Amino acid sequence: MTHSPSFSVAGKTVLITGGTGGIGGAFADAFQAHGASVIVADLRPPADPQPGRQYETLDVCDTKAVEALAARTKRLDVLIHCAGCLARWEEYKADIFAEIVDIHLVATMRLASAFRPQLKETKGCLINIASMYGYFGAAHAPAYSAAKTGVIGLTKSLALGFAPDGIRVNAIAPGWIKTEISRGGRENPEFNTKVVARLPNGEWAEPEELAGTAIFLASPAAQLINGVTIPVDGGYVAS
Ligand SMILES: NC(=O)c1ccc[n+]([C@@H]2O[C@H](COP(=O)([O-])OP(=O)(O)OC[C@H]3O[C@@H](n4cnc5c(N)ncnc54)[C@H](O)[C@@H]3O)[C@@H](O)[C@H]2O)c1
Repeated sequence: MTHSPSFSVAGKTVLITGGTGGIGGAFADAFQAHGASVIVADLRPPADPQPGRQYETLDVCDTKAVEALAARTKRLDVLIHCAGCLARWEEYKADIFAEIVDIHLVATMRLASAFRPQLKETKGCLINIASMYGYFGAAHAPAYSAAKTGVIGLTKSLALGFAPDGIRVNAIAPGWIKTEISRGGRENPEFNTKVVARLPNGEWAEPEELAGTAIFLASPAAQLINGVTIPVDGGYVAS
């Protein structure tokens, strides 16, 4: 008997942290265009709210606020933790280091634990966001790099830990994407030249170019994919 996989996310409810940012916003647009209900959770409401989208004000480092949002979220199929920021050289200060690790890594666990009951109910999935800096170090952003390495590891542990509940846990490691968080790097000629020289296609990507991987990971077609981090990097790590 032949089996035709479904790539559909229609009818699913998707929560995207950092969903007013570049990558999170592109994910929100794509999931909504494919028939999903989208809840965006970010520090501030967007300047241009999209019709049909639910917006929640949330600091992912605030455990009580995360738990309160979980308590009023009745159904969830997909949780994408896409909130993030960098403090660059300031990350050598221990308190700033801890803040950056919290936003990227601790919040991954905070959100996963808070929304586990809803995801168990739907046999849903988590999609975490790693980075090229999860694979190698960054002198200019040690907390960010350590946190993203942690996200790759935590994705494996959560996949194992949540498997009895039927919840899949994977991550995407974006390459070099044109958003606010990467503006400093793009506008630094020396840094930008190094990045572009290693990119096989020679250019930074648009956030929309990541969305297909998120939709695939959330779809029934990815039902056997669990605990992995997929680089979506235009071939950067291969070169
Ligand atoms: N742009 C890239 O090149 C790139 C590469 C690798 C990984 N990433 C990762 O992708 C994710 C999305 O980044 P982006 O490129 O869209 O950046 P972005 O700056 O456009 O968006 C980040 C969003 O996160 C939100 N945010 C920050 N702190 C928050 C908090 N405490 N609580 C809730 N929301 C918070 C911001 O308000 C913003 O909307 C981040 O995890 C980032 O580390 C980006």
